[in-house]
Amino acid sequence: MSGADDVKKVAVIGGGTMGNGIAQVFATNGFDVELIDAKPEFVQRALATIGRNLERVAKKQEWPADKAPGILARVHGGTSLDVAKDCPLVIEAVTEDFAVKKQIFLALDAVAPAETILASNTSSISITEIAALTKRPAQVIGMHFMNPVPVMQLIEIIRGLATSDATYALTEDLSKRLGKTPVEVNDYPGFISNRILMPMINEAVYTLMEGVATREAIDTVMKLGMNHPMGPLALADLIGLDTCLSIMEVLHVGLGDSKYRPCPLLRKMVAAGWLGRKSGRGFYEYPQA
Ligand code: CAA
Ligand code: NAD
Repeated sequence: MSGADDVKKVAVIGGGTMGNGIAQVFATNGFDVELIDAKPEFVQRALATIGRNLERVAKKQEWPADKAPGILARVHGGTSLDVAKDCPLVIEAVTEDFAVKKQIFLALDAVAPAETILASNTSSISITEIAALTKRPAQVIGMHFMNPVPVMQLIEIIRGLATSDATYALTEDLSKRLGKTPVEVNDYPGFISNRILMPMINEAVYTLMEGVATREAIDTVMKLGMNHPMGPLALADLIGLDTCLSIMEVLHVGLGDSKYRPCPLLRKMVAAGWLGRKSGRGFYEYPQA
């Protein structure tokens, strides 16, 4: 493959909070997308979410009636990783768990042509370690979109130890073609974004656990006092508390410093299945979920 212009079709593996947004953004920018999840009902849920979010953009931007359906029609749902056979770029966006990602990368490496780039949207897991699972470590890279993907400008591009300059250049070009701003980062736990963001969220959970203030007070201080668009507890609910806990675990183990220990209240809420918006309850309640 010579460059980003040769990429017409991508595969996105995992259609959850991030995967459906990534698929939406590629399709909106003219790419065909294969969106893969573990079960047909998860695929249907992802396609329905994209449909709703496109309608919202269509209403705001006064698109002609056929534009949103046309974009949605470019996203094909499925459950088989075999789609990697004819996609020059695959972006993995499954659960933040090394064991789950390992299974996906081994399978993708077995079916995808040798020149295919395998990207991960991981929030914190080592790209070098993921790349070492494959026979193509030079073509494995981190393409870290931010949530909500259609809205956020940044893509953090993470270079594993073996990632080639050609793989980096193509990923950077593609990010620009999506209208995003790429930032180059070397592979260390949590990269830039979550090395800095997640300890703040974890500290907000300690602040709540220790009874310093209510959830509303903590979020209001950070919104009105620091001009954050949303408070850290509401943001944790948007991200997913399971994802926040996994990221803290990676920081704690990977950097070996007790300052990254996950807050016990965060652990307890994840154990209860209170995962934030996606489960209907986190630090706040979301009756529609
Ligand atoms: N699809 C399309 N558009 C969407 C959308 C979606 N899923 N979600 C929101 N929008 C759009 C809305 O249509 C609206 O557009 P306009 O500005 O044109 O009106 C805009 O986003 C704002 O949305 P709302 O008015 O509904 O709500 P809001 O003003 O409260 O903004 C927010 C919502 C964009 C989420 C804002 O609160 C925000 O920026 N929050 C912080 C988000 C953040 O920090 N993200 C990073 C998380 S960390 C991460 O992603 C990395 C990781 O690894 C964990
Ligand atoms: P999520 O829990 O919302 O969705 C994960 C999806 O992966 C689910 O739809 C699940 O069914 C699917 N999945 C799990 N195992 C699978 C398998 N074997 N095959 C196919 N699909 C499978 O998680 P998310 O928030 O979308 O996170 C996905 C990735 O993106 C994680 O690595 C996470 O760290 C990263 N990320 C998350 C955020 C965020 O704010 N949530 C931001 C940036 C990056």
